[in-house]
Amino acid sequence: MKKIAVLTSGGDAPGMNNAVRGVVLSAINAGLDVYGVYEGYKGLVNDEIVRLTKDDVNGVVNKGGTFLYSARLPEFKEEKVRKKAIANLEKHGIEALVVIGGDGSYMGAQKLSEMGIKCIGLPGTIDNDIVSTDYTIGFDTAINTAMDAIEKCRDTSISHNRCEIIELMGRHCGDITLFSGIAAGADVIITADTGLDEEKLVSEVKSKFEAGQRAVIVAIAEKMTDVEELAKRVEEKSGMETRAIVLAHTQRGGVPTAMDRVLATSMGSYAVELLKEGNTGRCVGIINNKLENFDITEALNLERKPNSLYNRIDSLK
Ligand code: ADP
Ligand code: F6P
Repeated sequence: MKKIAVLTSGGDAPGMNNAVRGVVLSAINAGLDVYGVYEGYKGLVNDEIVRLTKDDVNGVVNKGGTFLYSARLPEFKEEKVRKKAIANLEKHGIEALVVIGGDGSYMGAQKLSEMGIKCIGLPGTIDNDIVSTDYTIGFDTAINTAMDAIEKCRDTSISHNRCEIIELMGRHCGDITLFSGIAAGADVIITADTGLDEEKLVSEVKSKFEAGQRAVIVAIAEKMTDVEELAKRVEEKSGMETRAIVLAHTQRGGVPTAMDRVLATSMGSYAVELLKEGNTGRCVGIINNKLENFDITEALNLERKPNSLYNRIDSLK
């Protein structure tokens, strides 16, 4: 193996640049040529593939987003589209690929590895929804961003004696809501794992105000309900002025935290080591503070269990 490539795919995540840097430096130091693919699988199909040098990753450590850019390409599920990508890789003499993305990107990597390209997946997503790792690249930055935002909402809610309902990202995973909610001291945390009981929410909001709180903060995961409508109903039933805010893509941007940078860089370096050993169809995770690797298909089929932090929520009310 002489040439490898790296791409970032799906929703971007802070720390992706550090993962790319880990791959590039480790590959070059191992005597490999390394290529960057722009815009994920889209760039693979459109032949947006360029040679990278150490200079290209100089200064990316503190940059948000991904300098290789990202994209979603639903057509990549079709074999004929993937064949085009493989033809482009073969044209450049590239035998292996590091895919940095979420579970959708992992599926693409699994299929490419079945078609003969050696692939390693790195968990790049703010959602923390990949079961084969304790933490994904970007999650730590996202929860710090969300924590700051929740605290800012509390400041203004205290001034105005309001309830604020704050919607957090995570696709179908409530980890961003759970972690940032606990970190910022949210009064109520609602995710798919807790379920949404509106009557219970209203009574909790009312009792917090009755106990003398000036502000009540509700952290709720996306896809649970329409938070604007929920805020109207909570205001009506509780008698307390209520606002809703959707933090949305603010959670995906920004300078990566030290934890995300270190996690991403070490995973990038580990991916190159796995490729040098001849591995393919594997994905990287951090489990109990140790880098591990798993078969991608097995990893994607692992059952997701609710985080044990849910056992703490009631004792913190
Ligand atoms: P993430 O990787 O963050 O989960 P997506 O689910 O949007 O984001 O997936 C990113 C990309 O991975 C998709 O746009 C598509 O190109 C590719 N992909 C997703 N699912 C599959 C699949 N079943 N087979 C092949 N490629 C896939
Ligand atoms: O997977 C990352 C994520 O930000 C999810 O939390 C969210 O559901 C989704 O991507 C939003 O996607 P888009 O960028 O297409 O709006």
